[in-house]
Amino acid sequence: MQTASTLDVLRTSVAKLRADGETIGLVPTMGALHEGHLTLVRRAREECDHVVASVFVNPTQFGPNEDLDAYPRQLEEDAAMLESEGCALLWAPSGEEMYPGGAESFFTSISVSGVSEGLCGASRPGHFDGVATVVCKLFNQVQPDMAFFGEKDFQQLAVIRTMARDLDLVHPNARQIIGVPTVREADGLAMSSRNRYLSEEHRLAAATLPRAMQEAIARIEDGQEVAPTLAALEDALLGAGFSGVDYATLADARSLAPLDVKSTAAARLLVAARIGNTRLIDNMSVG
Ligand code: PAF
Repeated sequence: MQTASTLDVLRTSVAKLRADGETIGLVPTMGALHEGHLTLVRRAREECDHVVASVFVNPTQFGPNEDLDAYPRQLEEDAAMLESEGCALLWAPSGEEMYPGGAESFFTSISVSGVSEGLCGASRPGHFDGVATVVCKLFNQVQPDMAFFGEKDFQQLAVIRTMARDLDLVHPNARQIIGVPTVREADGLAMSSRNRYLSEEHRLAAATLPRAMQEAIARIEDGQEVAPTLAALEDALLGAGFSGVDYATLADARSLAPLDVKSTAAARLLVAARIGNTRLIDNMSVG
């Protein structure tokens, strides 16, 4: 596996991979890789001739009081994992390479209205603008045939799909942005680079999140009312040691508009809750 840390090297290396008309799958990450990321790489290998993975902790998607400095960085371990999964090229730019002159003096920002403001966007203003902008840059830099994202970040996936459609970044009929189902620990907790922040006690309690979500889904599918079911889900989390619930919402799986009743359209249950200093998110399909 080759590593590129400048755009020049990236472009030359991608051109070589493409030389015989071969296809490229992009797996964008912020590093601190776990089984969830490796599942994306494996899926990309199945669908494309070569896999390019990016590791870049993107400052523009972190708020002023968020964990940018503390976010885990382990490029060597990440590179070894990617290599053993058969990744062809690692794109690991510096902050300066990605945002020359510094992220603060970077003027273009992509804002995908409609899907960005609610849910995580409500407590993380500007977060999805940072995500959309860096993903657009990654698409332009690598020009992949397909790109792979985890469904764990369901709202992020909706933002990226909307941006890609609206800005003609992908062909409308092609399956170019692939959402890959969430990978879970044995007790059901969705894998996340942030799980490593959890104390032993909080890690045990965190498994209440997927369990309580499954119970809520069973009730909604059984025809019980949505609002009291979501209130019971919040109570279950607070009772298990979560310190707060940012949202527990039933939403239309495409528009992410909140639903008061389970309609015939595809629905998704999405939750963000805090335990200790860690904010966990999860989502599951309903019906
Ligand atoms: O999901 C992530 O790790 C990041 O939000 C992404 C898509 C790599 C953009 O920085």
